[in-house]
Amino acid sequence: MKKIVILTGAGISAESGLGTFRDEGGLWSHHRLEDVATPEGFARDPALVHRFYNARREQAATALPNAAHQALARLQTSWPGEVILITQNVDSLHEAAGAQMVLHMHGNLAGALCGVCDHRWTSPPQMQVGETCPRCSVPAGRPDVVWFGEIPYHMDTIYAHLSKADLFAAIGTSGQVYPAAAFVQQAAFAGAHTVEINLDPSSIVPDFEETRFGPATQTVPVWVKDLLQTI
Ligand code: OAD
Repeated sequence: MKKIVILTGAGISAESGLGTFRDEGGLWSHHRLEDVATPEGFARDPALVHRFYNARREQAATALPNAAHQALARLQTSWPGEVILITQNVDSLHEAAGAQMVLHMHGNLAGALCGVCDHRWTSPPQMQVGETCPRCSVPAGRPDVVWFGEIPYHMDTIYAHLSKADLFAAIGTSGQVYPAAAFVQQAAFAGAHTVEINLDPSSIVPDFEETRFGPATQTVPVWVKDLLQTI
C-alpha cells in the first residue's frame, strides 16, 4: 500500500492560536531571527532567547489541536500503509491530536538540551539563564530547538522516507526554509505524487503537481477524506 510522507509547518497550528513566522504580524515581524533563533544570538543574550521561547512554551501549553491535526492523526490510524509525519513545528499539537511517530526536525519546546554534553531532558515551563544540566552539571541548558546555522534533527531518517514515498504533502509551510523546502523535490525524484496544502500558494508552488488552498482546518480534513475513500 502507498507510503505517505507529510511535512507540516506553522500554518497547521495557526488556527490553534499559535502565530506563524512570516505571515503579516508573524513572529519574525516582532523579533529579529538573528537575535532569538541562532546560536550567536543565544551566546550574546541568553535571557532574551529564554524569554522568547518561554513565552512560546507558555502559549503552546494552552493551545489545542485543531481539525487539521486531528485529520492527520486519523489518517495515520486508518491508512493501510505507512504515514510518516514530519513537522517543522516545535509545538506538540500533532501528538495531542493522537498522532504517532512525529519527526520534529526543528526540535520541540517541551525539551531542554545541554549545550555542552548534548543531554536532553524535559524543559521546565520557564527556562532560566544558566539552567543546569542534570547529567554533566554544567549550567548550559538551552531550549531543544534547532536554530539557524544548526543541522535539523532526523535528517537521515527523513531522507530514507522521502526516497520511498508514493505521496508527499506539504501543509502550512512557506517553503522558505531549507532543507525542508527541498523535500518536495526529493519526493518527486523518488516518483511520489506531490501536493501543496496551504492558505495561499507558497514560494515553491511550481514544484508541486497538485494544490489545495484555504485554511488548514478546512482543506486537510477534506484531503484526508478523499484519500481514505481511495482505499
Ligand atoms: P512560515 O511562517 O514561514 O509559513 C507559514 C505558512 O502557513 C505560510 O505559507 C502561510 O500561508 C500558511 N498559513 C497561515 N495560516 C494558515 C492556515 N490557517 N492554514 C493553512 N496554512 C496557513 O512558517 P514555516 O514554513 O513553518 O524555523 O516556517 C519554517 C521555519 O521557519 C520554522 O520551523 C522556523 C522558522 O524560522 C526555525 O525557527 C529554525
